[in-house]
Amino acid sequence: MLGDFMYSNPTRLYFGEHAMDNLKTELANYGPKVQLVYGGGSIKKNGIYDQVTKILQECGKTVFEDGGVMPNPTTEKLYEGCKIAKDNGVDLILAVGGGSVCDYSKAVSISAYCEEDPWDKYYLRMEDVDNKIIPVGCVLTMVGTGSEMNGGSVITNHEQKLKIGHVFGDNVFPKFSILNPVFTYTLPKYQMTSGCYDIMSHILEQYFSGTDDNTSDYIMEGLLKSLIHSWEIAMQDPENYEARSNIMWTATWALNTLIAMGKSTDWMVHMLGQAVGAYTDATHGMTLSAVSMAYYRHILPYGLEKFKRYAIHVWDVNPAGKSDMAIAEEGLQAMEAYMKRMGLVMNLRALGVTEDMLEGIAKATFVMDGGYKVLEKEEIMQILQESM
Ligand code: NZQ
Ligand code: ZN
Repeated sequence: MLGDFMYSNPTRLYFGEHAMDNLKTELANYGPKVQLVYGGGSIKKNGIYDQVTKILQECGKTVFEDGGVMPNPTTEKLYEGCKIAKDNGVDLILAVGGGSVCDYSKAVSISAYCEEDPWDKYYLRMEDVDNKIIPVGCVLTMVGTGSEMNGGSVITNHEQKLKIGHVFGDNVFPKFSILNPVFTYTLPKYQMTSGCYDIMSHILEQYFSGTDDNTSDYIMEGLLKSLIHSWEIAMQDPENYEARSNIMWTATWALNTLIAMGKSTDWMVHMLGQAVGAYTDATHGMTLSAVSMAYYRHILPYGLEKFKRYAIHVWDVNPAGKSDMAIAEEGLQAMEAYMKRMGLVMNLRALGVTEDMLEGIAKATFVMDGGYKVLEKEEIMQILQESM
C-alpha cells in the first residue's frame, strides 16, 4: 500500500427494499422548498414518482418540478435548472433517477449561485466551488455511475463537442442517497447491461495501475467477481433481488473513492468514451465497452504483470505451462467473450461513429497519466480505428 491519504465519505446511504422509509427523516433536515429533479418519465411509469411526491406532500414541502433531464445532461438543461433553483430559493434538490439525474442535480447545486458561466468555471477550468451550494439528496433508480455516493458530475456541451466530468470534493457529494434494488427491475436490458459495464469499467480504471501490493486491488478483484456473477443472473432473471442488490452495492463501492485510496488510477477508457459520447450522445456504458478491448490490448505489454494477475484472479485462467503473455491474453479473451454474451456494444460503428469523426474524437480525448502508458495522439487514433 503506497501513498498518503485521508478517507471520509459524507453521504448517508440507505439501502434495501425499505430504504424509502427514511426519506421523511432526511427531508426534515431541510427547508420547505424542494426542487424535484427527474429524467424523461420512467419514474412516472414505474410508480416511483408517486411514492416520492406522496412523501414530499406529507412532509409539507413545496415542490418545484424539474423533469426532462436527458441521459448525458447538457449545458442548456443545466442553465434551466439553475434558474428554477435560484428564482425559487430552493432548500434541497432531490434527484430521482440515474446517474444523469444525480450528476445534473450536483451541477445545479453548485451552479445556481455561480456568478459566471458554470461550464467555463467548473468544467473547462476545473475550478473548485467558492459559492453557495444547495444540498442534494438522491433516490437512485439506475445503477452504474456511483454518482449516489461521489462528487462526480458529467456535463455535455454539444456546441463545443465536449463531454467533461469534474470530480468535486466532499461538499458536493449527495447528503443522502436512497437505494432500493427493486427500483432497478424496470430498467430496459440495454440500460442495465450498459450500467453493469460502467461498474466493471470503474473498477478496471482503478485496478490497472501501479505495481505495489495494494489492499485496494484485492477489494477490486472481489467486487469484480461479485459483479460478473450477479450480472449474468440478473440478465436471465431481472427480478432476482439477490443479484440486483449485489449489483447495486457493487456499483456504489466501485466509485465512492474507497478503492482509489493509495493508488494512482488510469481512467483512459472513460476519457475515450466521453469523447465518443460528445460526438454521438451514445449511452455511457456502451461508449466504454466499444473502446475497451482495443485499449486494453494496446496497454497490455506495459502492465503485463497486472494483466496476468487479472486473468488468474478474476477470470480463473489456469496459468500452468503458459507464458505470462499467453495468460494475460487469455484473461482478455475471457473478458471479451463475457462482454459479448452480456449484449454489450463492441464497436464504435454500432454507436454511429463514422471514420470522419475519429480525428475530432481523438482531439476531444483528454490524456491521463496514472495508468501503464501515457498515450500519444497517434496511439489514441490507432485505438479508435481498432475499435471501429
Ligand atoms: O430518463 P428516464 O425516463 O428516467 O429514463 C432513464 C434513461 O433513459 C432510464 N432509467 C433510469 N432508471 C430507470 C430507467 N428506466 C426504467 N426504469 C428505471 N428504474 O435509463 C436511461 C439512462 O439513465 P441515465 O441516468 O442516463 O444512466 P446512467 O446512470 O448510466 O448515467 C449516465 C450519466 O452519468 C455519467 C455519464 O457520463 C452519463 O452522463 N457518469 C457519471 C459519473 C459520476 N457521477 O461519477 C461517472 C460515470 O463514469 C459517468 O461518466
Ligand atoms: Zn463510468
